[in-house]
Amino acid sequence: MKVITCKDYETMSQKAADDVAQDLREKPGLVLGLATGSSPLGIYRCLADLVRQESISCSRATGFQLDEYCGLTPDHPQSFHHYLKEHLLNVTDFREEHLHGLNGTATDWKSACISYEEQISAAGGIDLLILGLGQTGHIGFNEPDNVFPVHTHRVKLEKETIRSNARFFDSPEQVPRAALTMGIGTIMGARKIILLVNGRGKAGILKDVLTGSVKPQIPASILRFHQNVTVYADEEAMSAVTEEK
Ligand code: GLP
Repeated sequence: MKVITCKDYETMSQKAADDVAQDLREKPGLVLGLATGSSPLGIYRCLADLVRQESISCSRATGFQLDEYCGLTPDHPQSFHHYLKEHLLNVTDFREEHLHGLNGTATDWKSACISYEEQISAAGGIDLLILGLGQTGHIGFNEPDNVFPVHTHRVKLEKETIRSNARFFDSPEQVPRAALTMGIGTIMGARKIILLVNGRGKAGILKDVLTGSVKPQIPASILRFHQNVTVYADEEAMSAVTEEK
């Protein structure tokens, strides 16, 4: 696992975006896995700048959403599909028909999850997966558990996750209680992973992820077993690791 400590959020976003941009130049038809939330906002902003400067193009890239809330339609302002539309599709040349989303309103969610895995396989697998880190140590919505869930599946969200994500909604009651997410196996199947972590609030959990035991109670710790992970973290997020040294 490569850890790159950056001065601040902007530097972290720029460095990570340069990494993605390099891969896009080498393989214009790159298959991306796409996280949402506050961590990757900067990377999407930087990618949009690079597209505007004609330094890269996303027109041939394919994207797979990392996760989606259950019960929200794609046009709901807090759905992850809507987020990607706003922060990626509307500001770059990424084509809407190339973005695969998880159907959070599917009643037959089991079939939706199976179909999602098939879509990822049919695309040749994920080349580059962009991840954020949840306060609970989750990646996607894989919450702490006694096992690592393998495939795309439905999860009940932890109270802490609901509380943390309430900042995007008018009230905590509006935060969906369940979500669909790529499984840990789906995530580990990506050929390359970028994990973005910023802010002092993530310092404790990042330290656990980087230096604690690899266990399903800290889902992101499994990334230490992946061959090609780069963690881009700002100094605040790294503070618990660096202060100990
Ligand atoms: C959310 C999402 C994840 C995201 C993580 C961190 O709940 N399910 O995909 O990466 O939690 O969110 P943030 O970047 O807003 O801290």
